[in-house]
Amino acid sequence: MRSPKDFFAPLALGAPAPVREIPVTPSRMIHFFDPGNEKMAAKVPDIAKKVDVLLGNLEDAVRADRKEAARAGLVAIAKANDFGKTQLWTRVNSLDSPWVLDDLITLVTEIGDKLDVIMVPKVEGAQDIHYVDRLLAQLEARAGLTKPLLVHAILETASGVANVEEIAGASPRMQGISLGPADLAASRRMKTTRVGGGHPGYLVRTDPVGDDLNAGRTTYQQDLWHYTVARMVDACAMHGILPYYGPFGDIRDVVACEDQFRNAFLLGCVGAWSLHPVQIDIAKKVFSPSPSDVAWARRVIAEMGDGTGAVMIDGKMQDDASVKQCRVVAELADALAA
Ligand code: GLV
Ligand code: MG
Repeated sequence: MRSPKDFFAPLALGAPAPVREIPVTPSRMIHFFDPGNEKMAAKVPDIAKKVDVLLGNLEDAVRADRKEAARAGLVAIAKANDFGKTQLWTRVNSLDSPWVLDDLITLVTEIGDKLDVIMVPKVEGAQDIHYVDRLLAQLEARAGLTKPLLVHAILETASGVANVEEIAGASPRMQGISLGPADLAASRRMKTTRVGGGHPGYLVRTDPVGDDLNAGRTTYQQDLWHYTVARMVDACAMHGILPYYGPFGDIRDVVACEDQFRNAFLLGCVGAWSLHPVQIDIAKKVFSPSPSDVAWARRVIAEMGDGTGAVMIDGKMQDDASVKQCRVVAELADALAA
């Protein structure tokens, strides 16, 4: 396994940049905006006060003839604003597009000191992360940056899912991975036409009662994304990086959005994308542990003493494994309160 030093040392274009630890700052919602859309851009300073992460999107949803305006808009916004504790990320165009090289060169050169994370779409395998990693190292050295930019991969191709473990561990720059359900559905040739969320046809049906096939039967809608989210969470946990649910495209369906985000939270994700201001509060609510869960977690931790052995609390058995889960909840609450 290569050490962080190996990724920077061979460049010899300047002093090797130190590798930053993954920030524990909250990233419950990654709020997408189009930096080339003047109306949207004007709202950015206000939105920045409400979100953990602001992301200037250059990729899909930006028309081909607006790509340069979006890139220039992001440079202007980053130069004109100090977003304080709110992180500034960007999603560059995909590595097979004609825009990505200019995206990376311009953004690192012009605003590399303002950006925290570069989201790379349609990552197929570790080779994509290695390419971005080396290019960033060259550009950072040329720009005299001392803080390495972090990289976030979108998991949205069948090949990306097959290689998710190696993607998660491909570079010390890796900050996290988001599920991209829309492109992934297309890549897998799923028969859906949506941006994230469930599908009313993806069901299981309870058994019939007696001989009548229609008697007493109920259907339950299943989560289309369960397998992929769980696999992504494992890959991220194995490499110490952060997993996220991506977009939920039906902006009006705040109930299903909350359900989808909560499934992801319970499975281990730390945040999701918000595509509209209405999704900011949903993500904030879902990805912050509830006060009753935090109180319970703190009680278990207190009653477990040194964390070994077993105790009964309200009729429920607690041991080393449950106190570890409780620490995850309590530590998240502490990080969000800091
Ligand atoms: C996100 O980019 C997606 O394709 O879902
Ligand atoms: Mg996509």
